[in-house]
Amino acid sequence: MANLASDRANSDQFLFERDGSAQGLTRRSVLGGISALSAGVLLPEISQAKPAVPYGVATQIEHFRDDPVYRAKLLQYCDNIVPMNALKWASLRHTEGKFDFSAADQLIEFAEQNKCGTHGHTLLWYDYNPDWVNAIDDAKTAEKVLVEHIETVVDRYKGRIPTWDVVNEVIAHDPRWFGQWREGMWLKLLGPAHVDIAFRAAARTDPNAELIINDYDLANWGSRFNKRRAIMLDLVRHLQDQNIPVHGVGMQAHLYAEREVDHKQVVKFMRDLKALGVDVWVSELDFIDWKLSADHSVRDRAVAQVATQFLDAVFEGGPPRAVTTWGISDRHTWITNTFPRDDGLSSRALPLDENYQEKPLMQVLRGYLAMRA
Ligand code: XIL
Repeated sequence: MANLASDRANSDQFLFERDGSAQGLTRRSVLGGISALSAGVLLPEISQAKPAVPYGVATQIEHFRDDPVYRAKLLQYCDNIVPMNALKWASLRHTEGKFDFSAADQLIEFAEQNKCGTHGHTLLWYDYNPDWVNAIDDAKTAEKVLVEHIETVVDRYKGRIPTWDVVNEVIAHDPRWFGQWREGMWLKLLGPAHVDIAFRAAARTDPNAELIINDYDLANWGSRFNKRRAIMLDLVRHLQDQNIPVHGVGMQAHLYAEREVDHKQVVKFMRDLKALGVDVWVSELDFIDWKLSADHSVRDRAVAQVATQFLDAVFEGGPPRAVTTWGISDRHTWITNTFPRDDGLSSRALPLDENYQEKPLMQVLRGYLAMRA
């Protein structure tokens, strides 16, 4: 993660052009009227006819096991359970010869028992791999291990996990200068074909699963983001040209609270994807508030406003198939460690605070999603 964090930390900043803050009214707020005012936050109008878009939560096995309140909040709010790390290679493949499905099974069974949906994350990533995988140094072994892994994992959950993030973060962080591909072991050993290999293996194993290509930094204003969106469209077209099934794009949406969402380009991106016949999943929504002042209400207001800007655009061009937040409570969020604040305070990235109380972000989500609570 160190790489990822420093890449993102050092990336060019496309700060708000308009007024240097996150105060802009969104189109939805302006056109649709303001339905509620809470803690000074402009909330989106809650439409009677809103599409039934499910709300997912990326779930961490350690908190799931240790914290009954965490489990209760999952049941209270969410439609889909997405194992946050339990289906990644480092969780499943401690050693080469064996798969450890204990954590993933527990989360998937919990979802099934409670009539929640599930979503698989992820079959290929440059990160979060065990040492023995990182040590592979020839193409033949890499392909064999990759295909075996995907066949085994997808087969185990066939008919139970309906959607898979087949490949994760294959686009370069800043593709304007050094080419389109994110560096990593799969690219190094197999070249761009690693994407095709992964999708083919997943499609062969579960022809009914919906197969998704997942990536970050697809929502903001600026040339780096334009380029990333263009590459994502090219990747979808490339798979389709090879007759490789691809059903969706995951927009992670780890959104910088101080950056402007590019409404026009996000709507266009959604429509371009629809024209290609693929759906969009908002797959990892949370908010990076490291540049905002310490004050909770300032941060919560900025987060709610950026969330509204983003969801406005995604629903105007969409709707998406699901919106998943990357965790549910600020008590447990990767943002605090990966994007640390100078003042050392923890991040207010998620819809519930550290004490599991709702923040304005939850109210924003309710305005768009078919939420239980
Ligand atoms: C992160 C998890 O939240 C952390 O718990 C873990 O240590 C590292 O991975 N993009 C992704 C996710 O696709 O899988 C990452 O999740 C966050 C960035």
